[in-house]
Amino acid sequence: MRTRTTCTAAVLAALLTVSLTACGQEARGGSRYKPPAGKGGTIGLAMPTKASERWVNDGRNMAEQFRKAGYKTDLQYGDDKVENQVAQIENMITKGRRLLVVAAIDGSALTGVLKRAHDAGIPVISYDRLILGTPYVDYYASFDNERVGELQATYIVDKLKLGKPDRNADDKHNIELFAGSPDDNNTKYFFNGAMKVLGPYLDSGQLVVRSKQTSMNQVTTLRWDGGTAQKRMDDLISKSYGDERVDAVLSPYDGISIGILSALKSAGYGSKSQPLPVVTGQDAELASVKSIIRGEQTQTVFKDTRKLAAQAVQMGDAVLNDKKPKVNNTEDYDNGKKTVPSYLLNPVSVDKSNTDLLVREGYFTAGQLK
Ligand code: GAL
Repeated sequence: MRTRTTCTAAVLAALLTVSLTACGQEARGGSRYKPPAGKGGTIGLAMPTKASERWVNDGRNMAEQFRKAGYKTDLQYGDDKVENQVAQIENMITKGRRLLVVAAIDGSALTGVLKRAHDAGIPVISYDRLILGTPYVDYYASFDNERVGELQATYIVDKLKLGKPDRNADDKHNIELFAGSPDDNNTKYFFNGAMKVLGPYLDSGQLVVRSKQTSMNQVTTLRWDGGTAQKRMDDLISKSYGDERVDAVLSPYDGISIGILSALKSAGYGSKSQPLPVVTGQDAELASVKSIIRGEQTQTVFKDTRKLAAQAVQMGDAVLNDKKPKVNNTEDYDNGKKTVPSYLLNPVSVDKSNTDLLVREGYFTAGQLK
């Protein structure tokens, strides 16, 4: 009995010291309150939207993998509305989530709420999309985003046989460019990566953008919306392609590619006499992989969301247990306030010739691709 009383007193004293230290630190405005290390507790997962299959998979994969690592999860989707996501993160902070993993809807809109997370001693992992303008992002897990753009553009260059010695010197090909959402930091990496490859062919005139819309801010697609892309493609075809044909479309994401393809098909593309242009994509979403197998969309970039989830889990588990997460890039991802230590995975180009890779990797079953 005496031993138990002494123990309880000791625990209470220890807790008091922790909270007094915490108050002292906050009062001084200095380093943040540091909660005790260990497994257990709940992780807040703030994902952008359920409208795209990939984010549904990302959320499910992380919930499963965090559970296996010994944590519960609170998974929320922001319905692509910034104010929803901010409110969801605020709620996670109030509920004392131990760690936040956030795929931002608008990378620059989380400064205030992440300051509150910091004050409450909650570490933050930026997931897939870099959160900007705040020092309160601890780590970043993503794919090599510039490489994604390079893969899309290289695919177009190869398919159109640009730069091949046997090509006719007068051969010109028409291309239109699409970029992602202007508020997503990945957009510029994808676009710049692609333009690094396409730039020389645009300069030499082998590739022609008939709409003349070549700068990123002319070709972005708010919230990556397929319908928005479809409207823009309709417009481009009717204004710039009277008696010319589109040979290639740089599309940064499968949902956008599906919209572009709808516009092209409505304009009569997709027949023997007027074949569809080369259309790229990203995420290997089921609808797009099926479209590739049917011979409509031409290419996508496979980014295994299970592997990305695994990186977020290794980072989170390490941070919560006073260990150093594994990173492989400490230079390239500057968010305006700090260079965020990152782990970048490799994206893989997929077209009709290698969709079986997705089955071999267990990303889809053979039946799903039928
Ligand atoms: C980006 C992401 C892409 C794609 C896009 C639209 O941030 O890196 O893979 O999913 O959002 O959801």
